[in-house]
Amino acid sequence: MNEIVIERSGSILRVMLNRPDKKNAMTSAMYAALAGAFKDAAGDDGIHAVLWHAAGDSFCAGNDLGDFLKNPPGPGESPQAILATALLNLDKPLVAAVQGVAVGGGVTLLTFCDVVVAGESARFRTPFVDLALVPEFGSTWSLPARLGHLRAAELLMLGAPFDARRAEALGLVSRVVPDESLLAAATDATKALAEKPAGAVRACKRLMKRMSREPIEQAFRAEAEEFATRVRSAEAQAVFAAFLEKHAPSSTGRRA
Ligand code: COA
Repeated sequence: MNEIVIERSGSILRVMLNRPDKKNAMTSAMYAALAGAFKDAAGDDGIHAVLWHAAGDSFCAGNDLGDFLKNPPGPGESPQAILATALLNLDKPLVAAVQGVAVGGGVTLLTFCDVVVAGESARFRTPFVDLALVPEFGSTWSLPARLGHLRAAELLMLGAPFDARRAEALGLVSRVVPDESLLAAATDATKALAEKPAGAVRACKRLMKRMSREPIEQAFRAEAEEFATRVRSAEAQAVFAAFLEKHAPSSTGRRA
């Protein structure tokens, strides 16, 4: 099965996470395929907007925890780093549709989107510390910058779960719609963006992102250094094993 489905329709590129039986948990291969799609979209003048959505009842359960054991990301070039670069280089509007569970990277990756539509079922959590890890995708800079330190710490340090309305109040979601109209609402937003003067939209996004690129890159590099150590640590490996073996996690972690 193709775990990243890429489909072009006119000037819109639709990218779908397609691993619904695993709540769209992301493997290294999926990061690479997603990065490739965003890179192609950036380089193709015929694509004016990108819609990112997910099959099944959930958006994304974050990194595949088995893949963290098999392919732990290092501090340098990793599939995650390649995806982050592709997202930073994407100057076309990116719209996400989020339903059900969004955990870890399934939340932090949304910080690269321009419109995030959430279904009422959406439930968010960033349990990096509970997994004996640190946050990624530049979120240690972007979330405090957006939310302020206390709200960001509630998410990143406490790992507090929150629902779609709270995500909207925090500014992580543009708007909340009934689940049955989620894809239609996100598609409408993508079409509206695709129909605008394409050069102006791209220039606007570049200007809006101008000041944040460098701090996000710096945060990403620092996070990747720390992450590379943490993901290989005994405490993290014990949490991953507990999840995969479906036994009660230790005091360092719990299921999202
Ligand atoms: N990595 C690997 N497999 C995952 C996964 C992940 N991040 N998230 C879910 N899955 C798998 C489960 O192991 C299960 O597989 P199985 O059917 O072969 O047993 C399947 O997806 C469905 O998940 P399940 O836990 O049964 O669904 P749920 O509705 O009870 O809970 C979650 C959903 C997402 C809350 C829960 O699976 C979870 O906490 N996952 C881990 C999230 C996480 O810590 N991600 C890493 C962030 S960096």
